[in-house]
Order: sequence, then structure tokens, then C-alpha cells
Amino acid sequence: AARQTLAGRHVLVTAGPTHEAIDPVRYLANRSSGKQGFAIAAACAARGARVTLIAGPVTLPTPGGVDRVNVESARDMANAVAQALPADAAVMVAAVADWQVEAAPSKLKKGDGPPTLTLLPNPDILAMLGKSPRRPRLLVGFAAETDDVLAHATAKRIAKNADWIVANDVSGDVMGGDRNSVHLVTADGIDHWADAPKSDVAGRLADRIADALA
Ligand code: C5P
Repeated sequence: AARQTLAGRHVLVTAGPTHEAIDPVRYLANRSSGKQGFAIAAACAARGARVTLIAGPVTLPTPGGVDRVNVESARDMANAVAQALPADAAVMVAAVADWQVEAAPSKLKKGDGPPTLTLLPNPDILAMLGKSPRRPRLLVGFAAETDDVLAHATAKRIAKNADWIVANDVSGDVMGGDRNSVHLVTADGIDHWADAPKSDVAGRLADRIADALA
């Protein structure tokens, strides 16, 4: 077993996509599988942390020793994160939908023709935590980008007041795949991590989190 380097710490992890209702039976979503976030929750628990995993709709099994809260929408996720505070570290891995839909209260009828969807901005959970008086001591975000990965990640770290951004290029099959190639963007610079299984990326990140909180 891993050494208990996160014993006594509370780590909050968000993972997976969110579903944004269009009507009672339809939703908007994205391709996030939840695998990287679940692996990070597992790695932190294996190091002795108390872990709260706020999971969007995915069918992955709950890692051992992890407290899981299932949510659907970004608003649900924001509320669940607020409920789970305080935390020593928060790792926001979820691919939160940027927009919610002005949802219809009853099922839209095909015969009425294609509807116009009105999109409204969702709360940015990472940015909210960055500004919160209850901000975790270590706040980690993710940046999934298809171009200019490092520039976007560096800007995001500052804009959202995160300590670290884990940047990855999702132009390949990262979303849903079992491997990940990431760059850790901190105030001190950028570490380029070799392509590795998501479980290895998670272990390495959990070790860095333990060092940072020590
Ligand atoms: O701005 P962008 O969505 O690219 O930022 C990604 C990071 O912000 C991820 O850590 C993601 O979990 C978080 N995020 C969030 N709430 C949102 C959008 C993104 O927590 N509404």
C-alpha cells in the first residue's frame, strides 16, 4: 500500500461530464468519461486522504474508501461542492458544461418542429472556489484544449486563481481513453509529464498534492 502521505487531509474531486436538461427526457452533454477524475480520487484515498468525489453522470465504480456524491447538472455540481467544503485541496477534473439550457417543463414535441435552444452561462465552479473565503489551500484545475494548450492553461491558472492547472491536449482520444499526456502548470513554471496511464498520472498528481500540503 502507498504510504499515508495524505492522512488527515480532505480532498475534494469533481469528475465526469454534466448533463444539462433540454426537457424532461433530453439533455446536452460532452465526451468526458470521468476516468481521470476517478483515478485521482482513488490515488488520494490510497494515500490516506478523506476523499469526496462529486461525480457527474458516469457508470464507473466508486473507488474504495471514497465518498461519492452523484450529480447531473453543473448547478447540482456547484451546490454539492459548496456542501463538501471545507477541503484542504480541491481537484476540479469535471468537464462542466459551459452552458445550461432554458429547459422546457414538458417534453418538446417533434411535430412542433425543431426548437430554438436558449443557452445561459453555467456557474464556473473552479473560479467560484478561487474567489471563495473557503478556498481550499491547494486549488487544482484542469484545462482540456485542442490547440494552444499551454497558453490557455497558463491564462486559466491566473484567471481562476488556481494554484495549478493540469493541461492536456484532447484533440486525440484522451476523452474516454486510458492514457493521458499532461503538463503541470504552476506559479514556478511548467512540468511536462510523459504520456502514461491515467492511473499513473493520478498517482503522480496525488504525490505532488501530498508534498504541497505537507
Ligand atoms: O474554462 P474551462 O472550462 O476550460 O476550465 C476548465 C477547468 O475549470 C476545469 O478544472 C473544470 O473542472 C473547471 N470548470 C468548473 N466549472 C465550470 C467550467 C469549468 O469548475 N463551469
